[in-house]
Amino acid sequence: IKRITTETIRSMKSKEKITMLTAYDFTIAQMVDAGGVDAILVGDSASNVMAGHETTLPITLDQMIYHAQSVVRAAKKALVVVDLPFGSYQSDPQRALDSSVRIMKESGAHAVKLEGGIEIEKSIKRIINAGIPVMGHLGLTPQSIYQFGTYKVRAKEEAEAEKLMSDAKLLEELGAFSVVMEKIPAQLAKKVTENISIPTIGIGAGPHCDGQVLVVHDMLGMTHEFKPKFLRQYLNLYDEITKAVNNYVADVKSVNFPNENEQY
Ligand code: KIV
Ligand code: NA
Repeated sequence: IKRITTETIRSMKSKEKITMLTAYDFTIAQMVDAGGVDAILVGDSASNVMAGHETTLPITLDQMIYHAQSVVRAAKKALVVVDLPFGSYQSDPQRALDSSVRIMKESGAHAVKLEGGIEIEKSIKRIINAGIPVMGHLGLTPQSIYQFGTYKVRAKEEAEAEKLMSDAKLLEELGAFSVVMEKIPAQLAKKVTENISIPTIGIGAGPHCDGQVLVVHDMLGMTHEFKPKFLRQYLNLYDEITKAVNNYVADVKSVNFPNENEQY
C-alpha cells in the first residue's frame, strides 16, 4: 500500500475529495485506515471522547503523544495528523516547535495541526521551517471555547468572515499544506476554498470544501446524545454495544455463558 503524504493531499485539491476521520487508539485506527480514509486526525477531541472532559483544554502533550503512538502503529496508508493541545504552542514559537518536535519524534506521526491564524503566525513559520508539515484550523476552534462562550456557528458576521478569509490566505502563504474549517456558513467555506490554493477540509462547513472530517465516534453513533445538524451517523453503535453488553450480562446471570463449547 502506498502511503498518503502531505503532497498527495495538496495534489487532491479540486481533483478528488479528501476524506479524514479522527482516531485515538490502535483498534479503531486500524479500521479507519482499512476503510480507506486519506488522513487520520489524532484530534484533541480525545479530551472529550476518550477522557470524558467537557472541553478539549485539559488534554496534555504527553497524552496526545500516547494516542498518536497508538494510531501510527495502526495506519498503513493514511497520513497521520496530530493536534497540538491547548497550552503547548500559544506562548511562543520555540515552545510550539518543541511540542511539534516531540510529537514527530516520539509518535512517528506525519504532520501537526494548530488552531488559529495571525495570532500564531510566528509559531507556524517556525514549525514549517523545521520541516514539519502544518495543517491549520479556523472557524470554531474549540480551544477558544471560553472566549466564544458557545459552540454555535462562527463567522456569520462580516468582520469575522473577513478575518477567516485573511487567516486562510496567511496559512497558505506560510506554507500550511491544508486547513480545517469548522462550523462556518457553507457559502463562506466555498469562497475560501475558491480563493486559496491549499485544500480546505470542512466539518460543519458545507459541501464545497476540498474534503470532509468527522469525529469517528460521532459518525459511528458511539457518542451518546451528540447530534449537531452537520453530523451524519453511519451506525448507532451506542445502542448496538449497550444491547450486546446487556445480552452478555443476561447470559452470565442465567449461566448460559460459557456453554460446553466455550470451556476447556
Ligand atoms: O479534535 C478534533 O477532532 C478536530 C476535528 C473536529 C477537526 O480538531
Ligand atoms: Na482538535
